[in-house]
Amino acid sequence: MDEQKDQTEVREYFRIRGPQPLRGSVTVGGSKNAALPILAATLLSSTPSVIHNVPDLLDVRTMVMVLESLGAGVERIGKHSYRISPATISRFEPPYELIRKMRASFLVTGPLISRLSRARVPLPGGCAIGSRPIDLHLKGFAHLGVDVSMRSGYIETWAQKLRGGEVYFDFPSVGATENVMMLAATIEDETIIANAAREPEVVDLARFLTLMGASIEGVGTDTIVIRGRKDLQGCEYTIMNDRIEAGTFCVAAAITRGDVTVHGVETSLLRSVLTKLEEVGAQVEKVGEDAVRVAMSERPRPTNIKTMPYPGFPTDMQAQFMSLLCLADGVSVITETVFESRFAHVGELERMGAKVQVEGRSAVVVGVEKLTGARVTATDLRAGAALVLAGLAAEGVTEVNGIHHIDRGYEDLEVKLQSLGAFIERVRG
Ligand code: EPZ
Repeated sequence: MDEQKDQTEVREYFRIRGPQPLRGSVTVGGSKNAALPILAATLLSSTPSVIHNVPDLLDVRTMVMVLESLGAGVERIGKHSYRISPATISRFEPPYELIRKMRASFLVTGPLISRLSRARVPLPGGCAIGSRPIDLHLKGFAHLGVDVSMRSGYIETWAQKLRGGEVYFDFPSVGATENVMMLAATIEDETIIANAAREPEVVDLARFLTLMGASIEGVGTDTIVIRGRKDLQGCEYTIMNDRIEAGTFCVAAAITRGDVTVHGVETSLLRSVLTKLEEVGAQVEKVGEDAVRVAMSERPRPTNIKTMPYPGFPTDMQAQFMSLLCLADGVSVITETVFESRFAHVGELERMGAKVQVEGRSAVVVGVEKLTGARVTATDLRAGAALVLAGLAAEGVTEVNGIHHIDRGYEDLEVKLQSLGAFIERVRG
């Protein structure tokens, strides 16, 4: 599935001229992957919540549309703040076109089962990074007493008799952990999630659920114990910052051989990425409590990357790091263990002169002296970011098409890069 792009929309692309070292400071915004589940979680209560530091992204607007389509009131009270009034939700079926547009819309399923005792949700399709099933979400729901069936492309769920239970995930799925944790947060019983996802965004959601009145232990480890409450209360909450946006700017500093301080980042959440940047020869220095400085003056050394669930190297940084390794003075091997096919950016990087050989879940990257500007197309959010980074370092002009993918997850990317000295502009027409 690819996002259905409205064909009447005017063509937009980034035009980038490189090479240009980035210098200066940039501040990251709120985390997309924390905001989406937390916005869905506001439906668990019938009283209003106010959420701050919500990034201004296409995916957030889609989630807001989903909440409104279910009958919740959503008021934007600031550029990055929303008040959600969920008392009025009445529909248990989010619109097909919104689920198809954004897989994360499926995160309203747990809250709908909790509030309305049922949910009818279109099966989210695959996308450019793999089939992305939801079997673990459904298995988790079934262990909590939910009756689950599949009919003509829809998931039908009924809460026969919700009860606590023990859920084991074959894979520490972020979304499945979040969906099950949200449902369990309203069940007055004990639920254990084994082999749970440990991502910081899951921890942020658990903090919000705890503030609403649930009791959650072990979040951030592979075993989470939840004691829920029927009457969770809406509350005011500030979303964590986006560690992947921060990591993207750190790699941007390295690939352009610049010197950038990234503010608003908890460096402990980026340890795997910062360690790999040092391995390839970047200078990485913690600045104060919430900033990191990344500088690079010579060609990167090669290294090997294996994406893993947190705290391993994040799959959402794989494409960006590949762009950097395309310029290394040697051969690197990147293994993608989280998604079955997340190398769509390889073909586009090759158009810029990169030498990458994909073998199943591994990509062998033979570093080249330089990349050359070209017309390329983003196929997903992080592939798009990787192509922008490559364009900043390449000689000549790069046009990155498909930037609606980038706008799904990066707020004002070109503006922030311009503030660091990049020659990048958004061109319409
Ligand atoms: C979340 O997606 C993130 N999205 C993704 O970020 C991120 O790449 C991913 O976690 C892994 O970290 C949001 O948080 C909104 P998963 P999610 O369930 O929850 C398989 C970005 O760029 N799986 O952990 O969909 C699945 O096929 C996006 O910001 C099942 O088999 O990821 C995949 O191979 C991209 N059955 C693996 O697990 C299931 O029921 C990881 O998926 C669920 C997942």
